[in-house]
Amino acid sequence: MKEARRILLLGGTGRLGMAIARHIRLAANASIDACGSARETGPSSARPAPALFAPSRIALALDTRIPLEAAERWIETWKPEVIVNCIAASDVDRCEHEPLEAIRINTDLPGALAKAARRANVHLVHFSTDFVFDGELRRPYREDDPAAPLSVYGESKLHGEKAIASENPSHWIFRISWLYGGRERNLAATLLDPANAGRTIALSVDRIGVPNPVQLLAREIVHAIGYVHGPLQPADGVYHLSCRGQASWHEFGREFVAQAIDAGCLAPGNAPRIEAIHEQTMERPARRPPWSVLDASRYETTFERPLPDWRAAITLALQRAE
Ligand SMILES: NC(=O)c1ccc[n+]([C@@H]2O[C@H](COP(=O)([O-])OP(=O)(O)OC[C@H]3O[C@@H](n4cnc5c(N)ncnc54)[C@H](OP(=O)(O)O)[C@@H]3O)[C@@H](O)[C@H]2O)c1
Repeated sequence: MKEARRILLLGGTGRLGMAIARHIRLAANASIDACGSARETGPSSARPAPALFAPSRIALALDTRIPLEAAERWIETWKPEVIVNCIAASDVDRCEHEPLEAIRINTDLPGALAKAARRANVHLVHFSTDFVFDGELRRPYREDDPAAPLSVYGESKLHGEKAIASENPSHWIFRISWLYGGRERNLAATLLDPANAGRTIALSVDRIGVPNPVQLLAREIVHAIGYVHGPLQPADGVYHLSCRGQASWHEFGREFVAQAIDAGCLAPGNAPRIEAIHEQTMERPARRPPWSVLDASRYETTFERPLPDWRAAITLALQRAE
């Protein structure tokens, strides 16, 4: 029998990282393979559930001045077949004030991971963002549309993509957008929090994108990992991974609360009031793209995974509400 796939998850305490860890553990406990809907020719069908290593920030002891040394040490320690990098400087406004930290974490670290991964024949899964675009296109962005970030965060993430591509290990970069779901630090958790009962929560009507539950993205990543180093492994490069459709944050908030009430996850009396605001008039350190819908058809076709509309995907966040 083949050995279990060894997955090193970096940033497992973050929003997406936590969901991926949980999904891998669920798959392991349920004794299902990491490919989810395994096909006859599916690469992981003959392998036991993956072994997950999700070291804490302290265990990683990342010295961002010498990220290559750190990346090589991690590979030596955990001997992964796949690295899933969820480490990010993701506070968009903070990145404006701390550009060097943004570059170290969002550009230099992915570049170092890519170099170390190539040398050790490890597959690298990395995440980028809709914020690499300026939001002027007004049709869903494809992978090869020109990037023009408006913020330090977007710029540092775009350079992270380029750093990986130039090292060219076996890799996928998933550009994702608007995460929600999980226990904390996200809009869904705020909307479900009984402490916010009756309070007014202001959400923008003038920024359009696609909200994605971390549970859906985690499921897709675990599925994708099943292909690694197999005969059907999809081509390296950038893939947009995002639900279908489009929404403003205000539209999302109202729909989420309505579905949470219908599903019995939120008592009507505990629902917050959702107010519309115009974000473009707000003074914020970082500029955001006003329209950043991602076209995920390349992902859907290549990985053979149809993605749901953002409204339908809300169910996943509510099922997982704990
Ligand atoms: N959130 C969104 O809406 C969104 C949208 C589009 C794309 N993305 C991308 O999706 C990916 C995941 O984002 P996320 O929202 O899940 O991020 P997040 O919640 O901010 O998590 C970031 C992770 O990175 C870790 N980290 C940060 N600096 C570190 C350091 N110096 N050493 C070690 N670990 C460090 C954090 O550890 P601690 O917990 O210890 O701080 C945490 O585990 C990122 O690549 C992000 O750019 C996010």
